[in-house]
Amino acid sequence: MANTYKRILLKLSGEQLAGGSDRGVDTKTINWLADELKKVVDSGTEVVIVPGGGNWIRGADFAGEGIELTTAHYLGMMAGIINGQVLMDVFQSHGLPARAMSAVRMEQICEPYIRRKAIRHLEKGRILFTTGGTGRAYVTHDTAAVLYSLELECDIVIKATDVNGVFDKDPNQHDDAEHIPELSMQEALSNPEIKIMDKSAMGLAMDEGVKIIVYDVNKQDNLLKIVQGEKIGTLVS
Ligand code: GTP
Repeated sequence: MANTYKRILLKLSGEQLAGGSDRGVDTKTINWLADELKKVVDSGTEVVIVPGGGNWIRGADFAGEGIELTTAHYLGMMAGIINGQVLMDVFQSHGLPARAMSAVRMEQICEPYIRRKAIRHLEKGRILFTTGGTGRAYVTHDTAAVLYSLELECDIVIKATDVNGVFDKDPNQHDDAEHIPELSMQEALSNPEIKIMDKSAMGLAMDEGVKIIVYDVNKQDNLLKIVQGEKIGTLVS
């Protein structure tokens, strides 16, 4: 049976790549992710991945003590590029063809983002990392994720988290937190307790009708089940 989602955009946070540490990359986690993604690609779904950079530097938060806010944003974009390079190599070592592109030009290291070339990589069954954010300061990797999902005509944005989707309050702090299987983008935007992506990303998703699934990245086969149509996590539409 054909998969429900033929082309997905997966947003990974930098923190998820650090495993349990607060900095750097945990190769064990990334090798595990490669196995999870291989199942998805083998099942016939094309995958774009936007990795964040928070495992190296939390962009805007790094400003101050002489560092300009714009520069801090640039550093955050570069952190995402580092993650794309690491992920590409590890995925390739699992027999999973992968290409990384960057919105910031750095030809010696990375292909520049060119939409038609990106689509060709996807059609050839390669995992595509679109890195370097949007190439502009003052927006986040979440906004880049929604933008790329539109440009590359992805069926869905899938946001990886450490819990099974959206809850009415933080499930890590409240035992009685209730899981919300589905909600509207409007509800997600208006409830300050619900944090899926930043407001610009969510606003763009709402204006353009982009659907987002929030799911637990740490559970084996979760992503495969999602692309095959199983209701996992929370669907925001
Ligand atoms: P096809 O054209 O579909 O065969 O794709 P391909 O990526 O296999 O071929 P291409 O010849 O475009 O690229 C070969 C390798 O060089 C791939 O690993 C690309 O990611 C990489 N590459 C392509 N363009 C650039 C670039 O501008 N800079 C860097 N650093 N690498 C590049």
